[in-house]
Amino acid sequence: MQGMKVISNLVMFIALLLSNQIFAENIVNGDPSEGEKIASKVCAGCHSADGNSIIPSNPILAGQHPEYITKQLLNFKPQDNKPAERKSPVMAAMVAPLSAEDMKNIGAYYAQQEPTPGAAKDKELAEKGEKIYRGGNIESGLPACSGCHSPNGSGIPPNYPRLAGQHTEYTAAQLRYFRTGQRANDTNSVMRGIVSRMSEQEIKAVAEFISGLN
Ligand code: HEC
Ligand code: HEC
Repeated sequence: MQGMKVISNLVMFIALLLSNQIFAENIVNGDPSEGEKIASKVCAGCHSADGNSIIPSNPILAGQHPEYITKQLLNFKPQDNKPAERKSPVMAAMVAPLSAEDMKNIGAYYAQQEPTPGAAKDKELAEKGEKIYRGGNIESGLPACSGCHSPNGSGIPPNYPRLAGQHTEYTAAQLRYFRTGQRANDTNSVMRGIVSRMSEQEIKAVAEFISGLN
């Protein structure tokens, strides 16, 4: 009888350990079902329910890394009386009521959604863009995008976002924002340094290529 009690205590102890483990992971990784509740109510109108936005100025979020989404949401919000590192009047209003935990849950939700593959509209422009994406530009010292965003555009979590299939208009707009400094939330100014070496024509070409990358 004593043996049974020891075993049942042991089972309870292991179950407790496991549930703590799952609990801890949800804190670190976010809870997608909680994220979905916010996404379906507040975000779906602009980013679509599954994050595959169909409006070219609104980014596709489906399949994006959770850490990157959470970081962007934090960056849209002023922290400790400092102005937001990433400026967008629309998104500033959206993140105002969100807690850090909400942001993690939302990241977990969109990361689980399947991205719809895109197709470049202008094949000739996309071919020029592919050369930049894969080889950079030796003359201007522009590095290849693939080094950080990976050859298939899936990015490298947690720091390098997925780009594959993103709307041309959105990607080009972000590159221009990095150029003017309107977007300044890239750690160590890495994207601002890269875009300073790009011409407007290169921005258009690489954004066109990325829209069809998968
Ligand atoms: C009225 C339209 C609208 C709504 C509603 C909206 N967004 Fe956005 N979102 C945008 C636009 C436009 C941008 C691009 C901002 C920019 O950089 O100019 C954006 C950017 C983002 C980004 C950055 C993506 C990236 O690739 O860097 C994230 C993350 C995001 N939104 C999440 C959300 C979440 C979560 C909600 C709901 C709580 C939401 N959005 C609601 C329009 C919207
Ligand atoms: C040295 C690494 C590195 C290289 C090379 C690089 N990137 Fe990035 N890129 C980053 C990082 C880091 C971020 C995320 C910045 C942040 O945290 O907001 C980023 C963000 C971006 C974004 C914003 C994505 C979004 O959803 O808003 C775009 C677009 C982008 N890069 C395009 C490019 C292109 C095009 C090239 C090649 C010309 C390139 N990157 C080369 C590191 C790199």
